Amino acid sequence: MLRAKIAVLVSGGGTNLQALLDAEDACKIRSGEIALVVSNNPNAYALARAKSHGVDTVVLSRADYPAQPDFEAALQQCFTARGIELIVLAGFMRILSADFTARWPRRIINVHPALIPSFCGKGFYGLKVHEAALEKGVKVSGATVHFVNEVPDGGEIIFQKAVQVLQHDTPETLQRRIMEQAEWKLLPRAAEKISREIIKARKG
Ligand code: GAR
Repeated sequence: MLRAKIAVLVSGGGTNLQALLDAEDACKIRSGEIALVVSNNPNAYALARAKSHGVDTVVLSRADYPAQPDFEAALQQCFTARGIELIVLAGFMRILSADFTARWPRRIINVHPALIPSFCGKGFYGLKVHEAALEKGVKVSGATVHFVNEVPDGGEIIFQKAVQVLQHDTPETLQRRIMEQAEWKLLPRAAEKISREIIKARKG
């Protein structure tokens, strides 16, 4: 069985990328292989994680690709050259255009650190999501893995997991608990599920 080739797009620390790499090592991702990591941030620690795992890396920075069509053409070229079949957004902070997402229907997935449709969409990313959740006073938050379409955080939901908010939570403590209890579990599980679907679709 030829495994589905996965590209992971990152911008920062890459703990979700690490969860994917660890899941591959532990054979929890069996139907896919992480073949490429792309960062839009040259200083992302995620790049070091990929390299120490022997995964090919590419940096496409905003400085080099300020225009969205040029950035997306370069991305597409990287994917075509390597036969990428699944794109996983793991803390990737540059929004993809409708043109790009339309070329990859049900083949781009994203992890979001809240229970969509709460605290999502434009402007809700990273710690800002948890700040907004705490400000609202929600007692439960969580994480969502969903397909990516032209609406930011608007694609069909694949997996969701609720996580309790504790009384003295700060955005940082809540972020960490949601990562540990939800994101790092759901994202590898979703990557395996969609990889399996890709292999099945190849067989017709
Ligand atoms: C994660 O919490 C991820 O869900 C979030 O950024 C963090 C990246 O951490 N993504 C978004 O907010 C996207 N809207 P990581 O680099 O350690 O995986």
